Amino acid sequence: MKFFIDTANLEQIKEAQDLGILDGVTTNPSLMAKEGISGKEAVLNHYKTICEIVDGDISAEVLSTTYEEMIKEGDELAAIHPNIVVKIPMIKDGIKALKYFSNKGIKTNCTLIFSAGQALLAAKAGANYVSPFLGRLDDISVDGMNLIEEIRIIFDNYMFDTEILAASIRSPMHIINCAKIGADVITSPLDSILNLLNHPLTDKGLAQFVADAKKMS
Ligand code: G3P
Repeated sequence: MKFFIDTANLEQIKEAQDLGILDGVTTNPSLMAKEGISGKEAVLNHYKTICEIVDGDISAEVLSTTYEEMIKEGDELAAIHPNIVVKIPMIKDGIKALKYFSNKGIKTNCTLIFSAGQALLAAKAGANYVSPFLGRLDDISVDGMNLIEEIRIIFDNYMFDTEILAASIRSPMHIINCAKIGADVITSPLDSILNLLNHPLTDKGLAQFVADAKKMS
Protein backbone atom coordinates (compact mmCIF):
# COMPACT_ATOMS: atom_id res chain seq x y z
CA MET A 1 0.00 0.00 0.00
CA LYS A 2 1.29 3.45 -0.90
CA PHE A 3 1.34 6.24 1.69
CA PHE A 4 0.61 9.79 0.53
CA ILE A 5 0.43 12.80 2.84
CA ASP A 6 -2.65 15.00 2.50
CA THR A 7 -1.34 18.51 3.08
CA ALA A 8 0.26 21.52 1.42
CA ASN A 9 2.34 22.23 4.54
CA LEU A 10 6.01 21.98 3.56
CA GLU A 11 7.27 21.21 7.09
CA GLN A 12 4.88 18.27 7.42
CA ILE A 13 5.75 17.04 3.93
CA LYS A 14 9.47 17.17 4.84
CA GLU A 15 8.83 15.36 8.13
CA ALA A 16 6.94 12.54 6.37
CA GLN A 17 9.60 12.39 3.66
CA ASP A 18 12.35 12.11 6.32
CA LEU A 19 10.53 9.10 7.82
CA GLY A 20 11.31 7.28 4.58
CA ILE A 21 7.81 5.90 4.06
CA LEU A 22 6.31 8.56 1.81
CA ASP A 23 5.17 7.73 -1.73
CA GLY A 24 3.43 10.96 -2.71
CA VAL A 25 1.42 14.03 -1.75
CA THR A 26 -2.17 15.14 -2.27
CA THR A 27 -3.41 18.69 -1.95
CA ASN A 28 -6.68 20.46 -2.57
CA PRO A 29 -7.73 24.13 -2.76
CA SER A 30 -8.68 24.14 0.95
CA LEU A 31 -5.27 22.78 1.98
CA MET A 32 -3.47 25.30 -0.27
CA ALA A 33 -5.54 28.19 1.13
CA LYS A 34 -4.74 27.01 4.68
CA GLU A 35 -1.04 27.59 3.91
CA GLY A 36 -1.80 31.08 2.60
CA ILE A 37 -0.90 30.18 -0.99
CA SER A 38 -2.79 32.42 -3.42
CA GLY A 39 -2.30 33.63 -6.97
CA LYS A 40 -1.38 31.47 -9.96
CA GLU A 41 2.38 32.03 -9.73
CA ALA A 42 2.51 31.19 -6.00
CA VAL A 43 0.42 28.05 -6.54
CA LEU A 44 2.64 26.78 -9.38
CA ASN A 45 5.79 27.54 -7.35
CA HIS A 46 4.41 25.73 -4.31
CA TYR A 47 3.77 22.59 -6.36
CA LYS A 48 7.27 22.87 -7.82
CA THR A 49 8.74 23.01 -4.30
CA ILE A 50 6.71 19.96 -3.22
CA CYS A 51 7.99 18.06 -6.29
CA GLU A 52 11.54 18.92 -5.25
CA ILE A 53 10.96 17.49 -1.74
CA VAL A 54 9.13 14.27 -2.67
CA ASP A 55 9.97 11.97 -5.57
CA GLY A 56 6.48 10.54 -6.09
CA ASP A 57 3.04 11.37 -7.42
CA ILE A 58 1.95 14.89 -6.42
CA SER A 59 -1.75 15.63 -6.89
CA ALA A 60 -2.48 19.21 -7.93
CA GLU A 61 -6.17 20.11 -8.12
CA VAL A 62 -7.73 22.28 -10.81
CA LEU A 63 -9.74 25.23 -9.50
CA SER A 64 -12.11 25.49 -12.45
CA THR A 65 -15.22 23.41 -13.18
CA THR A 66 -15.76 23.60 -16.95
CA TYR A 67 -14.12 21.20 -19.42
CA GLU A 68 -12.28 23.93 -21.36
CA GLU A 69 -10.93 25.61 -18.24
CA MET A 70 -10.00 22.34 -16.54
CA ILE A 71 -7.93 21.09 -19.47
CA LYS A 72 -6.15 24.47 -19.79
CA GLU A 73 -5.42 24.54 -16.08
CA GLY A 74 -4.49 20.84 -15.96
CA ASP A 75 -2.06 21.22 -18.86
CA GLU A 76 -0.35 24.08 -17.00
CA LEU A 77 -0.14 22.04 -13.79
CA ALA A 78 1.21 18.97 -15.64
CA ALA A 79 3.92 21.13 -17.22
CA ILE A 80 5.39 21.91 -13.76
CA HIS A 81 6.93 18.45 -13.28
CA PRO A 82 6.52 14.88 -14.64
CA ASN A 83 5.30 13.72 -11.20
CA ILE A 84 2.29 16.05 -11.18
CA VAL A 85 -1.06 14.23 -11.14
CA VAL A 86 -3.93 16.47 -12.25
CA LYS A 87 -6.75 16.28 -9.72
CA ILE A 88 -10.19 16.62 -11.30
CA PRO A 89 -13.56 16.84 -9.54
CA MET A 90 -16.21 14.16 -10.11
CA ILE A 91 -18.54 16.12 -12.35
CA LYS A 92 -19.71 15.58 -15.95
CA ASP A 93 -17.09 17.92 -17.42
CA GLY A 94 -14.56 16.28 -15.12
CA ILE A 95 -15.19 12.90 -16.78
CA LYS A 96 -14.48 14.46 -20.17
CA ALA A 97 -11.33 16.08 -18.79
CA LEU A 98 -10.15 12.73 -17.34
CA LYS A 99 -10.50 11.19 -20.81
CA TYR A 100 -8.60 14.11 -22.38
CA PHE A 101 -5.66 13.74 -19.98
CA SER A 102 -5.72 9.95 -20.22
CA ASN A 103 -5.40 10.22 -24.03
CA LYS A 104 -2.46 12.61 -23.55
CA GLY A 105 -0.69 10.30 -21.07
CA ILE A 106 -1.06 12.81 -18.21
CA LYS A 107 -1.86 11.19 -14.85
CA THR A 108 -5.12 12.06 -13.10
CA ASN A 109 -6.80 11.71 -9.73
CA CYS A 110 -10.60 11.97 -9.69
CA THR A 111 -11.62 13.62 -6.42
CA LEU A 112 -14.83 13.97 -4.40
CA ILE A 113 -15.87 10.34 -4.92
CA PHE A 114 -18.78 9.37 -2.69
CA SER A 115 -20.32 6.41 -4.57
CA ALA A 116 -19.23 3.25 -6.37
CA GLY A 117 -20.93 4.50 -9.55
CA GLN A 118 -18.79 7.63 -9.54
CA ALA A 119 -15.65 5.51 -9.12
CA LEU A 120 -16.70 3.25 -12.01
CA LEU A 121 -17.26 6.22 -14.32
CA ALA A 122 -13.89 7.74 -13.42
CA ALA A 123 -12.14 4.42 -14.06
CA LYS A 124 -13.91 4.10 -17.43
CA ALA A 125 -12.65 7.59 -18.30
CA GLY A 126 -9.08 6.45 -17.59
CA ALA A 127 -8.40 8.04 -14.20
CA ASN A 128 -5.16 6.79 -12.63
CA TYR A 129 -6.57 7.31 -9.13
CA VAL A 130 -10.03 7.69 -7.63
CA SER A 131 -10.32 9.43 -4.27
CA PRO A 132 -13.23 8.21 -2.14
CA PHE A 133 -13.65 10.50 0.91
CA LEU A 134 -13.99 8.16 3.90
CA GLY A 135 -14.13 10.66 6.72
CA ARG A 136 -16.74 12.87 5.11
CA LEU A 137 -19.04 9.83 4.68
CA ASP A 138 -18.45 8.81 8.30
CA ASP A 139 -19.30 12.42 9.27
CA ILE A 140 -22.83 11.91 7.92
CA SER A 141 -23.23 8.45 9.49
CA VAL A 142 -22.51 6.52 6.29
CA ASP A 143 -19.81 3.85 6.58
CA GLY A 144 -17.04 5.12 4.32
CA MET A 145 -15.22 1.81 4.50
CA ASN A 146 -18.12 0.07 2.72
CA LEU A 147 -17.49 2.33 -0.26
CA ILE A 148 -13.83 1.29 -0.41
CA GLU A 149 -14.94 -2.36 -0.36
CA GLU A 150 -17.46 -1.82 -3.18
CA ILE A 151 -14.91 -0.04 -5.36
CA ARG A 152 -12.32 -2.79 -4.68
CA ILE A 153 -14.78 -5.46 -5.87
CA ILE A 154 -15.71 -3.53 -9.02
CA PHE A 155 -12.13 -2.70 -10.00
CA ASP A 156 -11.03 -6.30 -9.38
CA ASN A 157 -13.98 -7.71 -11.39
CA TYR A 158 -12.85 -5.83 -14.49
CA MET A 159 -9.14 -5.54 -13.74
CA PHE A 160 -9.21 -1.73 -13.94
CA ASP A 161 -5.73 -0.24 -13.55
CA THR A 162 -7.23 2.72 -11.67
CA GLU A 163 -5.89 2.84 -8.11
CA ILE A 164 -8.11 3.38 -5.07
CA LEU A 165 -6.68 6.37 -3.19
CA ALA A 166 -8.53 6.43 0.14
CA ALA A 167 -8.87 10.08 1.19
CA SER A 168 -10.37 12.11 4.02
CA ILE A 169 -8.56 9.84 6.48
CA ARG A 170 -9.19 10.86 10.08
CA SER A 171 -7.52 8.16 12.19
CA PRO A 172 -4.97 5.35 12.22
CA MET A 173 -7.91 2.88 12.21
CA HIS A 174 -8.98 4.28 8.84
CA ILE A 175 -5.48 3.47 7.53
CA ILE A 176 -5.48 -0.05 9.00
CA ASN A 177 -8.97 -0.84 7.66
CA CYS A 178 -8.01 0.47 4.21
CA ALA A 179 -4.98 -1.84 4.28
CA LYS A 180 -7.21 -4.81 5.24
CA ILE A 181 -9.65 -4.10 2.41
CA GLY A 182 -6.91 -3.54 -0.14
CA ALA A 183 -7.00 0.17 -0.94
CA ASP A 184 -3.99 0.83 -3.17
CA VAL A 185 -3.11 4.13 -1.50
CA ILE A 186 -4.07 6.10 1.60
CA THR A 187 -3.63 9.85 1.77
CA SER A 188 -3.55 11.03 5.34
CA PRO A 189 -2.72 13.96 7.58
CA LEU A 190 0.68 13.49 9.26
CA ASP A 191 -0.79 12.89 12.73
CA SER A 192 -2.78 9.81 11.67
CA ILE A 193 0.35 8.36 10.06
CA LEU A 194 2.44 9.07 13.19
CA ASN A 195 -0.28 7.60 15.44
CA LEU A 196 0.36 4.23 13.76
CA LEU A 197 3.60 4.21 15.77
CA ASN A 198 1.93 4.24 19.16
CA HIS A 199 1.30 1.34 21.51
CA PRO A 200 1.47 1.57 25.32
CA LEU A 201 3.13 -1.86 25.57
CA THR A 202 5.89 -0.63 23.25
CA ASP A 203 6.47 2.37 25.55
CA LYS A 204 6.37 0.17 28.66
CA GLY A 205 8.64 -2.46 27.11
CA LEU A 206 11.15 0.13 25.93
CA ALA A 207 11.23 1.83 29.35
CA GLN A 208 12.06 -1.55 30.87
CA PHE A 209 14.78 -2.27 28.28
CA VAL A 210 16.34 1.17 28.85
CA ALA A 211 16.27 0.65 32.65
CA ASP A 212 17.81 -2.83 32.34
CA ALA A 213 20.41 -1.57 29.87
CA LYS A 214 21.65 0.86 32.54
CA LYS A 215 22.25 -2.10 34.87
CA MET A 216 24.51 -3.62 32.22
CA SER A 217 26.84 -0.64 31.92
O1 G3P B 1 -7.69 15.82 -0.12
C1 G3P B 1 -8.98 15.35 -0.03
C2 G3P B 1 -9.41 14.83 1.33
O2 G3P B 1 -8.42 14.02 1.86
C3 G3P B 1 -9.93 15.86 2.26
O3 G3P B 1 -10.08 15.39 3.57
O4 G3P B 1 -10.42 15.82 5.98
O5 G3P B 1 -11.04 17.61 4.31
O6 G3P B 1 -12.39 15.52 4.52
P1 G3P B 1 -11.04 16.14 4.64
